[in-house]
Amino acid sequence: MKDHRDYYRGKIVLVTGGAGAIGSNLTLGLAELGAQVIILDDLSSAERWNVPSRPGILFVEGDVLDEVKLKRVFFERPQMVFHLAAFFANQNSVDHPERDLMVNGMGTLRLLEYSVFTDVQRFIYASSGCSIYGSQSPLPLREEFMSLHLSTPYQITKMLGELYCNFFHNHYGLPVVKPRFFNSYGPGEVPGQYRNVIPNFIYWAMKGLPLPITGTGEETRDFTYVGDIVDGLLRAGVMEGAVGEEFNLASRRETRILDVAHMINEPTESVIWQGIMQLASGQEACLLSNAGEGQRYESTLLVHT
Ligand SMILES: NC(=O)c1ccc[n+]([C@@H]2O[C@H](COP(=O)([O-])OP(=O)(O)OC[C@H]3O[C@@H](n4cnc5c(N)ncnc54)[C@H](O)[C@@H]3O)[C@@H](O)[C@H]2O)c1
Repeated sequence: MKDHRDYYRGKIVLVTGGAGAIGSNLTLGLAELGAQVIILDDLSSAERWNVPSRPGILFVEGDVLDEVKLKRVFFERPQMVFHLAAFFANQNSVDHPERDLMVNGMGTLRLLEYSVFTDVQRFIYASSGCSIYGSQSPLPLREEFMSLHLSTPYQITKMLGELYCNFFHNHYGLPVVKPRFFNSYGPGEVPGQYRNVIPNFIYWAMKGLPLPITGTGEETRDFTYVGDIVDGLLRAGVMEGAVGEEFNLASRRETRILDVAHMINEPTESVIWQGIMQLASGQEACLLSNAGEGQRYESTLLVHT
């Protein structure tokens, strides 16, 4: 196969959520490869300073549920859609389940409808491994496993998005791809109440505050560098065999939360504080191991820095 990156030169690409942690990196990557990128993002969980700005990028501020904004972005006739906008994530969805359903459910449905109407050549849906396998899934996590034991509205609506993708693929022939991300980290992500552990640990450590560790700290996760997720997404946009498929997009490295805390504390000379806090809603679904039993995780598409 020709280098997949050559494919994007001159392509018109819509990135929903393009101001977010992963979307902003994807947008910059696409623009560097010569794509014309349209971002649709309402900045509900992104900062304005994180909106990528350079020639070849058009930013449309708006909600994926807003018909006027949808018409505006699809008027540009995107050939590809990367649908990353989402109500993020577990605890947020427990606190605001209706908004979660509207954005992740109805928003995804609207994007799929517009993509069919305008003959989009590929629709890439940002799915979530932590969400859709649920907390009861056998390890290693395999793509064919389906769980009905999902524990937050976010997990349910990320699964719902995949199911709608399947419907649009089977019924209308829309070429969909469903990469499932695992715990992204890297530039572009801000700390916050509903955000991931790494930016929050960095924030607290830089403030000289102890890092609150939920659970025992022995829990492990697959942290995936955002640049690797972008690379996987770029491949998902091109590879023929990916159409209609779901696949894990992960590092295949299992890391203990306690080790992450040590790594972040070391340069800042901060201290670890180990609390006996309960895991927040949905957190248990991201765990690869509670007891540090070594590698029990496997992934179809592996990416390494
Ligand atoms: N970060 C992870 O570890 C992870 C893991 C698995 C899956 N995902 C999925 O990847 C995608 C991107 O995640 P992220 O970490 O970049 O999250 P993020 O919150 O940084 O980005 C999401 C973006 O969508 C925008 N947005 C939210 N609601 C919107 C709406 N109604 N209309 C338009 N824009 C809206 C936000 O402003 C934000 O810029 C999401 O779909 C998420 O579910 C992320």
